Amino acid sequence: MGKKAVITGAFSFTGAAVAEELIRRGWKIHTLTNRARPAEAGEITSSPLKFDLPYLEERLRGADVFINTYWVRVPWKGVTFQAGVENSRLLVKAAVAAKAPRLVHVSVSRAEKGTNLGYYRGKREVEKCVSASGLSYAIVCPTLALGPNDVLTNNMAWFLRRFPIFPVPQGGHYRLQPVTLGDMGRIIADAAESRENLKVDAAGPDVWAYRDYLRLLAEACGAKPVFMDTPNGFALAGIRLAELFLGDVVLTREELLGLQQELLVSDQPPLGRESAADWLRQNGHRLGRVYANDVDRHFGPGSTKPVIPKW
Ligand SMILES: NC(=O)c1ccc[n+]([C@@H]2O[C@H](COP(=O)([O-])OP(=O)(O)OC[C@H]3O[C@@H](n4cnc5c(N)ncnc54)[C@H](OP(=O)(O)O)[C@@H]3O)[C@@H](O)[C@H]2O)c1
Repeated sequence: MGKKAVITGAFSFTGAAVAEELIRRGWKIHTLTNRARPAEAGEITSSPLKFDLPYLEERLRGADVFINTYWVRVPWKGVTFQAGVENSRLLVKAAVAAKAPRLVHVSVSRAEKGTNLGYYRGKREVEKCVSASGLSYAIVCPTLALGPNDVLTNNMAWFLRRFPIFPVPQGGHYRLQPVTLGDMGRIIADAAESRENLKVDAAGPDVWAYRDYLRLLAEACGAKPVFMDTPNGFALAGIRLAELFLGDVVLTREELLGLQQELLVSDQPPLGRESAADWLRQNGHRLGRVYANDVDRHFGPGSTKPVIPKW
């Protein structure tokens, strides 16, 4: 009988990619999610993600690995980064109580360098909790993931397609190192199958200056806007205005500052093999056709619908 993994979010983005990869390797998957089962779920079983210790312990009992992708990208309606930290601590506590043989936690690249920012500070706190859990663990730290149903790059493409001018905060010289979702699924699955305590980045083979990444993305989706070098305040004011119409959080100030602090670049040899440029060239025609509303996806009617990352 195959080994069993419990994964958060197998009917959404990262969790779905990891589930797909582990199923290919013969694993059985149970997911914790509040989304409805999609037709593609196959043999994946599911139960609601509830932050209740005895409930979680029961769900994790008997699993060979618990893979935690849970996090709050955007504080919304009282769900803060601190709530994300507390909920993550509870998930780790449940894994300890269930004596999970392996805990794989998905964090973010360079959390330790971004502790001036709430998102990264929270991530770092949870990383410490995982490494102090006493369980066999892996912490996987993605940079920026690229895949079907992605939010950030898709929505950049949405703006590039629709507006003649695109603001580039502070010239866009800062770098990023995107990773494809397929690579990310494989790196997390490898971490699940390893027995070592480890902390690895999930980063792709290429590093781009943000302004070059934007140009590549524009070219890949056939958009020809004028790129305008702006101060951060100007770009963020434009984004806040767009958010009023979209009913979403497009990009937080902290995400922009994290990008400018080059937190989305790894200092390890890249484990990702797929070139982001190739991926964008192959998939650019699909990016940005439809706006991906992240607030709806996590807090609105969209929060119970599956977001399986397939085109
Ligand atoms: N995507 C990226 O580019 C990227 C980059 C760096 C780091 N990461 C990290 O990788 C992990 C997975 O990211 P992702 O993009 O795949 O995230 P995601 O799909 O938005 O969510 C991952 C998990 O968190 C749960 N979740 C998110 N917001 C929630 C909320 N408000 N209430 C309850 N549950 C919530 C999701 O639940 P559902 O099952 O309901 O969807 C899912 O289980 C996260 O820890 C993230 O910080 C991602």
